Amino acid sequence: MERILKGDKILLGTCYYPEHWERGLWKDDLSRMKKHGIAAVRVAEFAWNKVEPAEGQYTFGFFDDFLETAGAADMAVIFCTPTAAPPAWLTHRYPEVLNADINGLSIHHGERRHYNYNAYAYRRFAAIITEKIAEHYGKHPCIIGWQIDNEINCGTDEFYSASDTAAFREFLKKKYQTLDNLNTAWGTVFWNQTYTAWDEVFVPRKTANNSHSPHLVLDYYRFVSESARSFVKLQSDILRKYIKSGDFITTNGIFANLDSHRMTAESLDFITYDSYPDFAYCLNADPVHSDDLNDRKWSRHLSEVRSISKVFGIMEQQSGSPGWNTRMEAPQPRPGQMALWTMQSIAHGADYVSYFRWRTCAMGTEIYWHGILDYSNRDNRRLAELASIYEKTQTLSGLAGSVYEAAFGVLKDYDNVWDSRLDAWHRRLDEVSGAGIFQAAQLTHTPFDYVYIDDSTTLEVLSKYPVLFYPHAVIMTEKRAELLEKYVESGGVLILGCRAAYKDVTGKCPMVKLPGLLQNLSGVDVTEYTFTAADEGMISVDWDGTELEAPVFNDILEPLGNARVLGRYTKSYYASSPALIVREYGKGRVYYFGGTFSRQGARVFLEKLGVAGPYRDLFELPECCELAVRRKGDARFFFVLNYTKEAVRITLKREMTDLYTRQSVSGDIELPAYGTGVYAARIENG
Ligand code: GAL
Repeated sequence: MERILKGDKILLGTCYYPEHWERGLWKDDLSRMKKHGIAAVRVAEFAWNKVEPAEGQYTFGFFDDFLETAGAADMAVIFCTPTAAPPAWLTHRYPEVLNADINGLSIHHGERRHYNYNAYAYRRFAAIITEKIAEHYGKHPCIIGWQIDNEINCGTDEFYSASDTAAFREFLKKKYQTLDNLNTAWGTVFWNQTYTAWDEVFVPRKTANNSHSPHLVLDYYRFVSESARSFVKLQSDILRKYIKSGDFITTNGIFANLDSHRMTAESLDFITYDSYPDFAYCLNADPVHSDDLNDRKWSRHLSEVRSISKVFGIMEQQSGSPGWNTRMEAPQPRPGQMALWTMQSIAHGADYVSYFRWRTCAMGTEIYWHGILDYSNRDNRRLAELASIYEKTQTLSGLAGSVYEAAFGVLKDYDNVWDSRLDAWHRRLDEVSGAGIFQAAQLTHTPFDYVYIDDSTTLEVLSKYPVLFYPHAVIMTEKRAELLEKYVESGGVLILGCRAAYKDVTGKCPMVKLPGLLQNLSGVDVTEYTFTAADEGMISVDWDGTELEAPVFNDILEPLGNARVLGRYTKSYYASSPALIVREYGKGRVYYFGGTFSRQGARVFLEKLGVAGPYRDLFELPECCELAVRRKGDARFFFVLNYTKEAVRITLKREMTDLYTRQSVSGDIELPAYGTGVYAARIENG
């Protein structure tokens, strides 16, 4: 039985639903999987009824039989707790377990993820089914690990049931102790929203103009995250009592209103991710969020995943076109794309890639969510591609356990992630800079990491990065400001974008000169600010003769103390006012930029600061190829990924080992359409 994420192999798996098929097919399916390189299957995440068909009646035979068949096929199994889809008998008898809409009206049974995390009855049933399953199957030799639920907070990330309101009040009582404290924290004197009894406090509800106190909503998101985390912890604590030593616990993410970092730290061995890059080609793709990087954008999501677990698994990797029968129409992956997306995942740190799903489902909402096989079950192009991917991954075992090597970091924190979700002003900045920095890094072949911080983050975490962007540190705390000071003092280079530190942790705006808690570090005084105006076009900054775009929002700056002006606005009523200020601080430097980071702007920073293209002496690559790097000791593994439908030429400027062929290669190489290459080299003292 193969074990995944043990640092010795790159392994493939698939999602299998034994309950969807005649038992007679299991044996053939499993041996066919094995033949094509599948080492593990994930099962049972929506199969509660197969174990508890009626309240309190447990039947283990179905999965006993399946596990026996899997054992005979030497197939490893990842078993799931089935809580993502509570049974009809449960929701009918205990309707309080259902989620509700913003009007507090209960949703009905059907689909999945229809429950809320806080109903006492649901926690009780979830705990019992987890215990029964873990107790019965936990020691089975085929099982190598466990998945809790399925995609915590996917689709449904807001909860408005009566149980949620009751739990929200408890959460707030613990946090604020008194209503006076809560009223102060939320600034309820505004529009006469002062609470005089805890019973008056609710989760957000429909209001006259659909807005809510932003301070309430910020705490509500924190509450949703805590509810989800404690639901996962409830299950992982039970699983740990029964599972074999060496078996792992994970869940597949990552979704909104959830601190996945904390969830992983407190309940999981590592995070797994569900990667569906074909969404980029949905025929009705949202034009605001689609851009020319298409499926390459999934590298941004994978970088987020890597910030949680350096080496992780892909629990669901796209193998066929997506689609519910109600939405998400998209073409089939073209020849080579399934392999490309697999290598994209591995390049970013996945040592296990499991395809969704073995065979396309013949019934239900997901009849168009194609798996490897079609309904017909015949051998097809995607199955052949799987076999060729398997051949490739077999050559990659040497890089298992290696970690991604970033040239710079982008700081993030959940307070700001959630504030930007609820605050339209903040969100506009984040959308531009989030995409801009990612795109600039991609196009200049500069690998980077996301680095999540909170009040307990240590300098050690930050010091690994010579350069850090903190694009819009809108909410700032004293501890984080101190951490940033220490980072710069000890030699780090910090780049701040507009709107830094104008809110406190409640989301209120203290009466201070901006950038508030970062004024001391940055040596900047923000004297005025504004959104840019459509009739003026792109606002830019002259940075020593280089044009630097400053779209969306502009802070108008003045330097303080030893800070120096590096760039000035070139347009609008604030033309010639300072837009970019640098300050030497201890052994490091801090840049304050008054704009957001467009693709062009972020690129200017990367080039000027000498961060762009750290491997230009090793590779010459067209922009359409991604370069990703994993490292183990002094061995570097370079992934070159061609996202285009044309063949491209790349140049290796020194000899390296092509891992797929084990041959020494250098000079010009042609990568076919959607082709990938993995090249190994030893680089000392990097
Ligand atoms: C994932 C989910 C799977 C399946 C897939 C395709 O989000 O975990 O169960 O639904 O999407 O829709």
